[in-house]
Amino acid sequence: MLKNNNIGLIEIKNTENIKIESDFLNKNQVFLTVKREDLIHKYISGNKFRKLKYNIIEAKKQHKQTLLSFGGAYSNHIEALSFAGHELGMNTIGLIRGDELSGQPLNPTLTRAFRNGMKLVFITRKQYSRKEEKVFLMELKNDFGDFYLIPEGGTNHLAVLGCEEIIGHQEHEFDVIASSVGTGGTISGIINASSCSQKVIGFSALKGDFLKDYIVDKVNKDNWELNEEYHFGGYAKVTNELIDFINNFKMETGIPLDPIYTGKMMFGIYDLIKKGKFQKNTSILAIHTGGLQGIDGMNQVLQKKGMKLIV
Ligand SMILES: Cc1ncc(COP(=O)(O)O)c(C=O)c1O
Repeated sequence: MLKNNNIGLIEIKNTENIKIESDFLNKNQVFLTVKREDLIHKYISGNKFRKLKYNIIEAKKQHKQTLLSFGGAYSNHIEALSFAGHELGMNTIGLIRGDELSGQPLNPTLTRAFRNGMKLVFITRKQYSRKEEKVFLMELKNDFGDFYLIPEGGTNHLAVLGCEEIIGHQEHEFDVIASSVGTGGTISGIINASSCSQKVIGFSALKGDFLKDYIVDKVNKDNWELNEEYHFGGYAKVTNELIDFINNFKMETGIPLDPIYTGKMMFGIYDLIKKGKFQKNTSILAIHTGGLQGIDGMNQVLQKKGMKLIV
């Protein structure tokens, strides 16, 4: 396996660990550092790069010309995949949940994916639920020809391997590592690469207790917990309180957070600090997994609902 940080011609920046200075953290006597994985790349940011890296290497090894994947209408993964395909001269096909979107104006995420040359196929929720069925995948091969399949959210064992590279020696200095959880792939890599003396906390971005089993299956140690208290009602659900938090955090630290994943994780970290969950002098490393491309689309939805906007 290649261990460098580039997929083909796509240049990736090294990430920085930024220590947050604030009265709130001083008062509560904890240290917080953000690993800016979001700065890796403008379009293939955060865990998207980590998840795609070994999958693209594998697709090339198998001489595949087309990458096919699944996602929701605002999927960070779909946008990142479209950009990677565009840069690497590979075809991309995105099967998008919701046939009602067909013929409608594209949201900002799908507009960018389309401009990157991705073929967008809107499918019913029933069809979408068959995304792991062999028969369904065979039908897709009949429709679209041969392809390399990248599962929903980009998560598979090669994605977990890529996410292990988020954690290096520098990251072993922290007592706690926190990450947002969607499918569980990213945190599985983080757990595998963490040291046994560290605690890994996953903040679930969605409702449902199925994630724990998925993670248990992929990891090599039990130094982790899944916190399910900060999903704000479920996937992509937000409140004005969360939006205020995201806006204040950016104002105080200069670090933007997305409303679906990293905003909820950071809200959870701050709330646990407030509640005294961490011992004095605990050092926490929060992984910024990216997702900032989703802000435009979320703001359109918030505006329609008359809610506060992310600035
Ligand atoms: C920005 C962002 N952060 C975190 C996650 C959660 O990652 P995972 O699905 O691997 O749990 C995702 C989803 O892939 C994401 O887009």
